[in-house]
Amino acid sequence: METLYIKVDEKNPEIDKIRIAAEIIKKGGLVAFPTETVYGLGANALDEKAAIKIFEAKKRPQDNPLIVHIQDIKELYLLVKEVPQKAYSLIEKFWPGPLTLIFEKSERVPNGTTGGLDTVAVRMPDHRVARLLIRESGVPIAAPSANLSGKPSPTNAQDVMEDMKGRIDAVIDGGDSKFGVESTVLDLTGDIPIILRPGGITKEELEEVLGRVQVEDAISGIEKPKSPGMKYRHYSPKAEIYLIVGEIPLQIKKIKELAKEFERKGFKVGILATAQTRKEYFGENVISAGDRDAPLTISSNLFSLLRKFDRMGVDVILAEGIPETGLGLAVMNRLKRASGNRIIKA
Ligand code: TXA
Ligand code: MG
Repeated sequence: METLYIKVDEKNPEIDKIRIAAEIIKKGGLVAFPTETVYGLGANALDEKAAIKIFEAKKRPQDNPLIVHIQDIKELYLLVKEVPQKAYSLIEKFWPGPLTLIFEKSERVPNGTTGGLDTVAVRMPDHRVARLLIRESGVPIAAPSANLSGKPSPTNAQDVMEDMKGRIDAVIDGGDSKFGVESTVLDLTGDIPIILRPGGITKEELEEVLGRVQVEDAISGIEKPKSPGMKYRHYSPKAEIYLIVGEIPLQIKKIKELAKEFERKGFKVGILATAQTRKEYFGENVISAGDRDAPLTISSNLFSLLRKFDRMGVDVILAEGIPETGLGLAVMNRLKRASGNRIIKA
């Protein structure tokens, strides 16, 4: 399969180009497109055959459900049985934006899209290109992140092509994703709202609207997690990641020790530092992920840097932990999972 590459002006997307992609969606094809979180791999959410193609292209287990993307609130009512009161205040405050809400699904949503669940995950992305694509397609678009299953999510069109060239019909290049981590997935179906996956909208922001919010422990390898995606290894580059947590001076000391040890054994070591600590380390393979005091600078770079380390051919990545507040919670969730739980307390 030839993958059509469509470059658009992200500020002022050319409508004729969007329509080419929309035609592909209407015909049941697959189009990767930019959102404010990461790139999505889209298909008509109401067409079961099209949705199933997504799983094949990504090599994704079929029980891991897809998020359905809409661009107008009217589309929500077609997808769900009812909208709970709590959801309205969240929708008003955070849509369009990186918040995915779980609802009981309507008959119209095929099982292929929801991995057989009777709930459906819905979000309204805050990205011109994504919104126009949904509008011009005339259908809600099911879209997981546009990576091969298990790899870091793509935050630019080149990273999509690295995984998906020849496997999908088209990719729309609309520049870099702003957040760099996926949307927050929030389950409102129980009494207490539960964050199934921390993401672009922070726990603190949600608590301002909802009061108490729980975070599902994604790491502890639960047998039957509420969010099926949580049981799979994820976000992993080829290199082995070690996540070092603790006070900053102790992190630095530990990373230096580990780097020496791995290098002595003949491994090529990459260090994922921060702007504040970058100068403490020596060698070619040290990269600052961003500013500890502005976690968006880290989240927006994280996945593309993990892919960059792979292209540099490092065997081991030693990553500094950051505080789990604000977007730091999503960053640490991805790093923990990418490390396969190789977490070292300094
Ligand atoms: O930011 C994002 O959310 C991106 C962009 C493209 O919108 N999409 C994304 O999709 O990250 P994906 O498929 O990579 O992750 C969806 C997550 C998975 O962990 C999945 O298990 C969970 O949402 N999920 C989907 N439907 C669900 C449902 N009905 N109940 C519980 N969890 C669900
Ligand atoms: Mg994903």
